[in-house]
Amino acid sequence: MEDIRAFMSQREFQLLRDLIYKESGLYFADGKRYFLEIHLRPRLKELGLESFEDYYRYLLNRPPGDKEWMRLFDKITIPETFFFRDPRHFEVLKDEVIPEITARKKYGIKRLSLWSAGCATGEEAYTLAMILLEESQVSLKGWSFKVIGSDISMTALQKAKEGAYSEYSVRYVPDLYMKKYFIEVKGIYYVSNDVRRCVDFLRVNLSSDEEMRRMRYFDVIFCRNVLIYFDKKSKEKVLERLYESLNTGGYLFIGSTETLFGIDTPFKGVRFPGCTAYKKEDRDYAS
Ligand SMILES: C[S@@+](CC[C@H](N)C(=O)[O-])C[C@H]1O[C@@H](n2cnc3c(N)ncnc32)[C@H](O)[C@@H]1O
Repeated sequence: MEDIRAFMSQREFQLLRDLIYKESGLYFADGKRYFLEIHLRPRLKELGLESFEDYYRYLLNRPPGDKEWMRLFDKITIPETFFFRDPRHFEVLKDEVIPEITARKKYGIKRLSLWSAGCATGEEAYTLAMILLEESQVSLKGWSFKVIGSDISMTALQKAKEGAYSEYSVRYVPDLYMKKYFIEVKGIYYVSNDVRRCVDFLRVNLSSDEEMRRMRYFDVIFCRNVLIYFDKKSKEKVLERLYESLNTGGYLFIGSTETLFGIDTPFKGVRFPGCTAYKKEDRDYAS
């Protein structure tokens, strides 16, 4: 068979880009043609297809959740992450947000639910679990908690479940946490069973209404460095769904370089020293 055509035409780019957008909300601007071309070309070869248009047709009528969509998302998502990324967020969580939420829930069930939405290979979800485990000896005595890590990429989630990391991923882990929550074997850093027990990993597409309806009653959501891949319209939809997923009084954290400025969203920005978080307010207090 002839070798795969190396080039993705503008038309093929637009067809694929629009289809991917419809399925996932991920938006590839015009300058990203080359990115899609080099990341999808290996898949054409594996399938024995001759052009990107053939690949578009191959994808066209596949239902959400089809294996080919999974393979595609694995190829075009960027799972860059590490433990204790933007540590200010975790300090604000521990010192400001958790005390506020536990005070609010003190007469109810003493349970906290946190969600790392777009967790990539799991470092953020495990960091949250470590913070909560530390607090369970102090301010969270008598409380139970659960952390959910979710992503669209099955490969990233598989790695998350394994819980084994390179030195690079753990480079910002404070000594105390390193000693208590990791086991190092030949340069691989394994997350301890205590931490693993606190976290469940699930595949969730943030752009799917059906999948998002299952995600409810969270006190805190971390959705950091994920919204950057969406355009304004799909960002607003994802934010609306995340809002629905939170309990009243709950908080959303986004990446430190991201902003909701100019985005139509029901969240109220709350400024803490060194970071802004986004709150789902009581309807009575919301302006
Ligand atoms: C750069 S990583 C961020 C990881 C982590 N939250 C952090 O800040 O370190 C972005 C992740 O978002 C995921 N993602 C992108 N679009 C998504 C979607 N529609 N649904 C769920 N996850 C998505 C990607 O697969 C990727 O793993």
